[in-house]
Amino acid sequence: MRKKIVAGNWKMNLDYNEGLGVFSEIINMVKDEATGTQEVVVCSPFIHIHSLVQMAKGYHKVAVGAQNAHQAESGAYTGETSAKMIKSVGAAYVIIGHSERRQYFGENNELLAKKTDTVLKHDLHPIFCIGETLQEREANQHFDVIRTQLVEGVFHLDAPQFAKLVLAYEPVWAIGTGVTASSAQAQEIHEFIRKEIAAKYNQEVADNTTILYGGSCNPKNAAELFAQPDIDGGLIGGASLKSRDFVDIIKAFN
Ligand code: PGA
Repeated sequence: MRKKIVAGNWKMNLDYNEGLGVFSEIINMVKDEATGTQEVVVCSPFIHIHSLVQMAKGYHKVAVGAQNAHQAESGAYTGETSAKMIKSVGAAYVIIGHSERRQYFGENNELLAKKTDTVLKHDLHPIFCIGETLQEREANQHFDVIRTQLVEGVFHLDAPQFAKLVLAYEPVWAIGTGVTASSAQAQEIHEFIRKEIAAKYNQEVADNTTILYGGSCNPKNAAELFAQPDIDGGLIGGASLKSRDFVDIIKAFN
């Protein structure tokens, strides 16, 4: 059976002490309240990762991730952080290709394919993000856009590598806007993604792939979204900054 995961994406929020405070609340509430088999991931800014990993020791449900990694192994890339460095502090996941990286930092599928390879080489799990803009949906191009993101971003992987990947469907029009995709809209795309994976690899690989939904997920809509057959959890932005809201979303899997 594929994993159920609720991952938080803190983006560029919370200073060092604020981050440790929120994380401490999250891990304690998860220990006391999360009764299902769900896994919890917190993708923090780089400066928090080492401390969060130390704090999470003994909390078997909780892992820590980064939000980006450079494609190169090392070198003269001022301001960048490598996958090897991220691995060395004990993180387990790295978000790759978030729409904000695509939009504000010019990251395209070709670059994201390289980042995915580097992250996998260091035995980290990419959380690979895909999703259409509002313009693309209104032009009825969303299926094509998502297929292209899969083909160019991750379908070069062989099946054992692909098995280490988590996918996140995040319609750009739903991110940080308060407008959530309906559970039917999200399920339709998740089912499409799983069919594309089955066509490229096989049904077993498709059935084992965790596909998260992201975009204005909150404690009120999480249960209905997560109840869809092809939605295996969420990638949570704004609501992951508030421990109570984040843990209530996690509990949608209890
Ligand atoms: P949001 O962000 O939950 O604040 O919409 C989701 C994301 O960007 O991963």
